[in-house]
Amino acid sequence: MREDLTVATTGDMLALGRRLAAVLLPGDLVVLSGDLGAGKTTLVQGIGAGLGVRGPITSPTFVIARVHPSLSGGPALVHADAYRLGSPAEVDDLDLDASLETSVTVVEWGGGLVEDLAPDRLDVGIALAPPGPDNGPGLEQEPRTVRLEGHGARWEGVGLPPPGNAPAPGSAAASGSAAASGGGKAS
Ligand SMILES: Nc1ncnc2c1ncn2[C@@H]1O[C@H](COP(=O)(O)OP(=O)(O)O)[C@@H](O)[C@H]1O
Ligand SMILES: [Mg+2]
Repeated sequence: MREDLTVATTGDMLALGRRLAAVLLPGDLVVLSGDLGAGKTTLVQGIGAGLGVRGPITSPTFVIARVHPSLSGGPALVHADAYRLGSPAEVDDLDLDASLETSVTVVEWGGGLVEDLAPDRLDVGIALAPPGPDNGPGLEQEPRTVRLEGHGARWEGVGLPPPGNAPAPGSAAASGSAAASGGGKAS
């Protein structure tokens, strides 16, 4: 997976999280980077909604890692914020690897600290989009650029599902164009 996106609003960031959740599997590690206020936690909230886990998903203050169990029999979401962590040894202390195999693990500010947790990972970099006609200082919604970059065999050939309320595979609405464009997935 390698995608560059522009995300205009908070709602669009939540929607991106939901789209991402549709391709996430137990064992996946997602590493989020970007400045304070970039929208990392907002993206995790969308992922949590898409996975159907128990909320609320918030910016950890004293708790550095939190487990959000699934409400629907799927994988739990482990949400960690490595902002206050200074070394891989401190990351070890979180015991993220204990839950990695069975959960979706998302780490904010994890760049340079958590890469050793799993051989494959999805890096997500979020930045403020450069000023343009539709964004600038003082506007409530400020667009972000998001880069998704998969590393390892897990992410080869994996893409985001299309935006919008894509019908679930096998649903009545999916039997039309979605099935025609599917890759021959058996029903
Ligand atoms: N396009 C956008 N994408 C994401 N967040 C946005 C956007 N525009 C405005 N925001 C706001 O920016 C803030 C991002 O905060 P948060 O997700 O906690 O960032 P981080 O976890 O990276 O510090 C939220 O208040 C969100 O509503
Ligand atoms: Mg955050």
